[in-house]
Amino acid sequence: MTVRRSWAEPWKIKMIEPIRMTAPEHRQEAIREAGYNTFLLQSDDVYIDLLTDSGTSAMSENQWAGIMLGDEAYAGSRSYRHLCEAIEEIYGYPETVPTHQGRGAEHILSQILIRPGDVIPGNMYFTTTRFHQEYAGGKFVDVIIDEAHDPASTHPFKGNVDLAKLAAVVEEHGAERIPYICPETNVNLAGGQPMSMENLRQVWEFCRPLGILVMLDATRALENAWFIKQRETGYQDRSVREILKEICSYSDGATVSSKKDNLVNIGGFLALRDPELARRARALLVAFEGLQTYGGMSGRDMEALARGIREMVETDDHVRARVGQVEYLGRLISEAGVPIVVPVGGHGVFLDARAILAHLPQDHFPAQALAAALYVDSGVRGMERGIVSAGRNKETGDHNRPRLELVRLTIPRRVYTQSHMDVTAESVAAVYAEREQVRGLRFTYEPPDLRFFQARFEPIEA
Ligand code: F0G
Repeated sequence: MTVRRSWAEPWKIKMIEPIRMTAPEHRQEAIREAGYNTFLLQSDDVYIDLLTDSGTSAMSENQWAGIMLGDEAYAGSRSYRHLCEAIEEIYGYPETVPTHQGRGAEHILSQILIRPGDVIPGNMYFTTTRFHQEYAGGKFVDVIIDEAHDPASTHPFKGNVDLAKLAAVVEEHGAERIPYICPETNVNLAGGQPMSMENLRQVWEFCRPLGILVMLDATRALENAWFIKQRETGYQDRSVREILKEICSYSDGATVSSKKDNLVNIGGFLALRDPELARRARALLVAFEGLQTYGGMSGRDMEALARGIREMVETDDHVRARVGQVEYLGRLISEAGVPIVVPVGGHGVFLDARAILAHLPQDHFPAQALAAALYVDSGVRGMERGIVSAGRNKETGDHNRPRLELVRLTIPRRVYTQSHMDVTAESVAAVYAEREQVRGLRFTYEPPDLRFFQARFEPIEA
């Protein structure tokens, strides 16, 4: 007989933050006032907040202690030095450019490397990353493997770059029009899907001789490292700390939103190997963010961040519990018969709104409508990741129509318990049972860029 041996989170709770359950009528009114956009809800009206895993982590006692020790010197802050040391030790990059969050790093990277007309390949897109590439005059091209666009494909590394697609982009545009490729680890919009080490190495070996830089989006590289340990031959006995360092070894630099893996509420960085490139980045940093030794962060933010970076890889137990909780929620929802993106990703469970609300055409924004219905059912707040997030084609003005039409239930790190996951799964099952009641939406206000943040909608009458 095998004896069951469970694992549990490698921490206990020292401080709590009350949350409030509301009545369905209250939520109905709240979502109407928010224009059926979960981004526009007041957090006081939310019961379990799965909008994002960004900036929502619970910090450790060690990080909070670091807050008290932050050095707020305008120039030459000790906390900046601590941050540089942590980044070099854990990620392996010698040059650190600190920014207020990930998009600050994306802005600076895009401005120093992209000339109008350039092409930047990436594995699927991220909203702000693509915005900054286009804002700098570049054009983003998707080179992710086809399996990534299929929610039901169980490929273990759905974040992989398709090398044939990449070669075709080089063939079409010429390597001189491609300043860099931006491979994203644990691809967010694909459902938190990893790249394999083999694929990262192949991308690196393909790009180097062509003079194309590899600039990772390493925002969720830790979670990617965990999946490599679980799924890729040869890595079972390696620590995530070693695996993370190897991931970064196949790149010239990285942008990181520290609001995810790094366990802080604000912050980010651009990390580089080439000191000359770092010099150019710092020249812009002082104009757009702040002096080179704080960029967009206070000293205390940098101190908490330096500690968060070390803490995330101190043992494998943290990431095991983090991804394990996401997989737990995914299993419950799957067992209820609700279609989700498989395999379950690192940072959230992605509901397949296209399959769930099969009666709605994509132009009626099924994922947006599903997120609103889930909120009304239980006060659980998720986020649309489908046609609304994908925006419009800059040239034709038509909607971009991604194959993935998803609602993301994103799990903050070290914040919610297994019972919160149970409540969430039960609500998803309840909405699924009544799915035919959910009506489509139309815009009442559509912002020109990054429209999902501020767009407003109304239900389409039956
Ligand atoms: N790259 C990835 C892969 C991200 O997921 C994000 C943010 C960013 C860059 C931008 O970083 O927010 O610090 O400026 N993702 C958040 C999310 C907003 O909810 O997925 P930021």
